[in-house]
Amino acid sequence: MNNVILIGFMGSGKTTVGLRLSYRLRRAVIDTDKEIEKEEKRAISDIFATDGEVYFRDRETACLKKLLESTNNQIISVGGGLPLREENRKLLHELGQVFYLNASAETIYERVKHDTTRPLLQGDDPKAKIRTMLAERDDCYRQAADVVIGVDGKDFEQILCEIEQHVS
Ligand code: S3P
Repeated sequence: MNNVILIGFMGSGKTTVGLRLSYRLRRAVIDTDKEIEKEEKRAISDIFATDGEVYFRDRETACLKKLLESTNNQIISVGGGLPLREENRKLLHELGQVFYLNASAETIYERVKHDTTRPLLQGDDPKAKIRTMLAERDDCYRQAADVVIGVDGKDFEQILCEIEQHVS
């Protein structure tokens, strides 16, 4: 299938890049977190608090399977943890061309430090948590990606141009 898929750590800019890319390429945009919140009729923080992370991860896999049946020529931004499952990485490849928005822990921390909606980043030392999680996840992101786009120090215009150059 011919979708453009954006993956990367929380705060790497997937949602914003997805919206702007949608406008530029005149393709509809879908965000897996928003799809899941719509289906579940509750916020992700509530899903984590009530049913736990494994339940949420299962919802992500189900969401990808549904998109495979219904979505083509669109932009899809996905939750930061979705590519961690091997099954999901395969589904992402089937869905289209995968772009990894690669940001440093410092960039991510600056963007998410006031955020209270991401359950995995709450706690005493979010900066250390970001560093650890990013190091653990980077390999999975690279395995899932067709193209890696470094985003540190770039404005959205630059990031969009780089992605557009690779969209096939
Ligand atoms: C998560 C990222 C979040 C959301 C959930 C878990 C993660 O999405 O899916 O809070 O494990 O990285 P964003 O990357 O859009 O913040």
